[in-house]
Amino acid sequence: MSVLITGGLGHVGSWVAYHLAKQGKQVIICDMAANHFERLGLDYLEDVRDMLVLESIDVLDYHSMFELLLRHRDGLEGVIHGVSVIAGPYFQQHPYKHISINANGTLNVLEICRILGIEKVVNMSSGAVYGDAPGPQSEATPYNATDLYGASKIAGELYGQQYSDTFGMDVRNARLFFVYGPGKRPSHMHKVYQAMFGPLEGLDNIQAPNGSEQALDWTHVHDTATGIVKLFEKESVKHRNFNISSGVLIDHLKIVEHVADILGERHNVQLGPGPFVVRGAPLDISLAQQELGFVPKYTDIREGLQDYWQWLKANAG
Ligand SMILES: NC(=O)c1ccc[n+]([C@@H]2O[C@H](COP(=O)([O-])OP(=O)(O)OC[C@H]3O[C@@H](n4cnc5c(N)ncnc54)[C@H](O)[C@@H]3O)[C@@H](O)[C@H]2O)c1
Repeated sequence: MSVLITGGLGHVGSWVAYHLAKQGKQVIICDMAANHFERLGLDYLEDVRDMLVLESIDVLDYHSMFELLLRHRDGLEGVIHGVSVIAGPYFQQHPYKHISINANGTLNVLEICRILGIEKVVNMSSGAVYGDAPGPQSEATPYNATDLYGASKIAGELYGQQYSDTFGMDVRNARLFFVYGPGKRPSHMHKVYQAMFGPLEGLDNIQAPNGSEQALDWTHVHDTATGIVKLFEKESVKHRNFNISSGVLIDHLKIVEHVADILGERHNVQLGPGPFVVRGAPLDISLAQQELGFVPKYTDIREGLQDYWQWLKANAG
């Protein structure tokens, strides 16, 4: 059996691909970065390289996406859709392009799956669909976009819900929240990530414009990926939307302190006033715990930070 993952070379998608490949599944990765896989430094995917098929295709290129899914349809259990431009100030610098990737990219995947009779789709969504509603936010919390990213994720979810209702498809939304951990270097991320996690990579003298007055449920990427795999593999589900996060609030300044404790020294990092993004937190993960058996491992972020540090040290340079 095989699974197709769009965005399968991204932070979350690459770990989902890893876990499924480790189970002996063939994983077809559709990602625009596939042509330079060797340069991405995803050492864990090198371990399962013989289980992967890499396809470099833009999700907005409907015809190429159609051909791809047609070619791989036989034996395909379903699709995990993870292409997205993630939240942050970069998103609104090119709003039309980024909304198109998130919303129309999702629509393309759903439409092609509908035509080809591929029923199961897990869509990587976000706790951003709840905006700044106070936490803990359950799946019953109403939609409330506080930025364009959130609006694009709501659009993707609504397309999925309507494709399920109208065409009998099985579209499930995994609502993820702030992911950190192996696979993505702080130096490749926004300044707020650099200020919190960067010292683990040796970064110093980082001034982030904001983020000091916020606590979010930061989630280790292994927990995020485990939750998505559980959602994909569940034979049938009673609900369609599942929060997948650590479920534990952690203050950003506490993360800075924990990192300093791990390293035994304090780097010169500063987070400016105010929040990084407008979000309520944490997500209430009890539905995923009950229905999917999802249990996050890294609820103590210090253990997650240790694991991240080990990966950064092993993959330095
Ligand atoms: N990272 C987080 O903190 C977070 C939080 C909440 C939700 N999410 C959601 O999880 C999903 C995965 O996030 P991530 O952190 O792994 O993102 P990422 O940016 O690490 O990965 C996205 C991948 O998509 C690929 N891609 C981008 N545009 C493409 C296109 N047009 N066609 C084909 N491939 C394209 C990129 O090459 C990249 O490998 C997204 O849907 C995101 O909205 C992430």
